[in-house]
Amino acid sequence: MKTKTLLILWIAFLSFERGNSQSLFMEASPEIEEKVEKLLQQMTLAEKIGQLNQSNANGVATGPQKAQDDFYKQLEAGRIGSILNIAGVEEIRKYQEIAVTRSRLKIPLLFGYDVIHGYKTIFPIPLAESCSWDLELMEKSARIAAKEAAAAGLHWTFAPMIDVSRDPRWGRVLEGAGEDTWLTSRVAEAKVRGYQWNLGSNESVLACAKHFAAYGLPQAGKDYGTVDISERTLEEIYLPPFKAAVEAGVATFMPAFNDIAGVPCTANKWLLTEVLRNRWKFKGVVVSDWGAIWQLVPHGMAHGSKQAVELSINAGVDMDMADGEYNRHALALINEGKVTVGQIDEMVRRILRMKFKLGLFDDPFRFCDVKREKRVIRNCDFIAEARKAAQKSIVLLKNENHLLPLAKDIKSIAVVGPLADNKQYLRDYWAGKGEVNDYVTLLEGLKNNLPSHIKINYAKGCDVTGTDCSFFSEAVEAANQSELVIAAIGERASMSGEDASRADISIPGVQEELVQALLDTGKPVVVVLMNGRPLTISKLTEQVPAIVEGWFLGTETGNAIADVLLGKYNPSGKLTMSFPRNVGQIPVFYNYRQSGRPGTDKLTKWTNRFIDSPVSPLYPFGYGLSYTTFSYSAPRVSQKEFSTNEILKVSVDVTNTGQYDGEETIQLYIRDVIASVTRPVKELKGFKKIFLRKGETRTVGFELRAEDLSFLSQDMEPVIESGEFILMTGPNSKDVQSVKVKFVKP
Ligand code: NOJ
Repeated sequence: MKTKTLLILWIAFLSFERGNSQSLFMEASPEIEEKVEKLLQQMTLAEKIGQLNQSNANGVATGPQKAQDDFYKQLEAGRIGSILNIAGVEEIRKYQEIAVTRSRLKIPLLFGYDVIHGYKTIFPIPLAESCSWDLELMEKSARIAAKEAAAAGLHWTFAPMIDVSRDPRWGRVLEGAGEDTWLTSRVAEAKVRGYQWNLGSNESVLACAKHFAAYGLPQAGKDYGTVDISERTLEEIYLPPFKAAVEAGVATFMPAFNDIAGVPCTANKWLLTEVLRNRWKFKGVVVSDWGAIWQLVPHGMAHGSKQAVELSINAGVDMDMADGEYNRHALALINEGKVTVGQIDEMVRRILRMKFKLGLFDDPFRFCDVKREKRVIRNCDFIAEARKAAQKSIVLLKNENHLLPLAKDIKSIAVVGPLADNKQYLRDYWAGKGEVNDYVTLLEGLKNNLPSHIKINYAKGCDVTGTDCSFFSEAVEAANQSELVIAAIGERASMSGEDASRADISIPGVQEELVQALLDTGKPVVVVLMNGRPLTISKLTEQVPAIVEGWFLGTETGNAIADVLLGKYNPSGKLTMSFPRNVGQIPVFYNYRQSGRPGTDKLTKWTNRFIDSPVSPLYPFGYGLSYTTFSYSAPRVSQKEFSTNEILKVSVDVTNTGQYDGEETIQLYIRDVIASVTRPVKELKGFKKIFLRKGETRTVGFELRAEDLSFLSQDMEPVIESGEFILMTGPNSKDVQSVKVKFVKP
């Protein structure tokens, strides 16, 4: 009994410790503060400025590159504080050795890298992973990525990207969690917890909340473009995930390339100092984006890079990524009185604190163990987790007459399409050190998982882009020889990501014509889409009986899709970004504000509509099918009226009415009917993902508090107003049932 009590106390202590050490990571302990001050006193001004310099050494350039100063000379002179884009123990050790043996003060370097969805075991792109609505899974994949990255010598990842994005033309939607603020905030917390799971040990890495802020709203979806946004939309839609990241203890922040209302984020004192430091009390390091400091010149804000440095330092950017502009100009700016030594000291303190807290002064090589690197990276457990994550990220968009899963007695399958067997096309730009050869294609996945007596007839048919139809005949031949066709079409992974905006988000090239040719054979056709963004697929949806949204799923792509096609995993993913019917609908998202002349798909005259297209998306936010079916009761509430300090309980019965066991994500939305500021037609406030055996019913409960009803008043102050609220529950943002409640202020 006594032992049991002690054990419980010990577990409670451990979890308290963990929670605390994580969120307080950036708080100073007196011992570390003392060490930081002592070191600071020994540093020359040039060495201090050097700490603010992040060089990409001679590594991969992830942006336009300016001429570099002599890297090795700078390293030895203590003029580099951090390096990005170098990874792997051997490489990292080489540079760290120079810093800690040849520089005067032997200050260790911090090594950062874009570990976005895995280091070498590549998980689904973040947009896909968010469709799993599985926060535990998202935390776990970040933890695995952190373990691999840390084993490769890295200390810091430039992730998570938590830019809400409502415009699928923007290539970087692939890096985020879609269009919803509440969900993106929860994902932000999960990712920060995952990357920084045991910060201070050599198994986790510093996370970086990026891109602060509103980078997901460039005009016309063109990357790096200007952002024209109201204060309300910025505060209500784009900022909350970043606040959530701060509260989860994120160690670093990266300002976005774009401007907000004419002020580029890199020079935006209101954003970086007023909001981030003063309002949210962020204590960590702000690192610029690649070359973002000198880009203040072409932005039209600075006459030259010297003024750009002045603006960035005064706005609150601690570290200069990639260009060495701080090194070039900060000293002169101090001499001219435009920047103070006090400011520089504060910036250096933040960076040194991180190095002390990571234990790099005790052992600069504590992340550099070659044996551990070999043992940890791509171990079987990680690969198995990547497969699970990939399964859960898949969204079943259409499945007429239960075409899927594939019939057990099928004897032949045609596998066609440019994405069916091309490893290179599956690897996106942000796939860390993921190796092309480690990617399992769909064809390989099917071969790995199908019984050997089932004949697979493969033909590529055409390429992703281009007009060449000359190989259609081979694909048609393969279809004719098979009972069913699986067509893998979509985008090459390189068609989304940074600098990959598209004006036309339809399926490129002649791939839709290929599908038509396959349909003309009369064989049932299953389309497996691979894409990094929502595409316009209205025609495909009309013509094809089954569509599986396969996104880009990482190294386990083919195995996971095969698992779904064969029914080894019953799909459970739900879209986190609406699919528009056409480009003209963009931006289309579920939580819009209603017009005084509300539009509907009936296209009634004098309403908020198009004359040539429905207003609703093709597939709404939260949508996704399963091989089984679920029925929902209407939501019930614990009370019809509630007030401050009360908890309103909402419950709904969900039954698995189909023929398979399966998972379902039950979503809760609210609508504030009348308020002093118009409110969105729906706002996600909660979800639960549950597993139900066939025939099983479960009651799912949610809790709502007064704070969940809060919004910004006309004076931009948080308010909660009395009045009627509609609570909605259902399987997606469209098919909901509702109940009305009243909130009464005491
Ligand atoms: C530019 C990207 O915007 C940013 O997300 C990334 O972390 C840096 N390049 C470094 O590669």
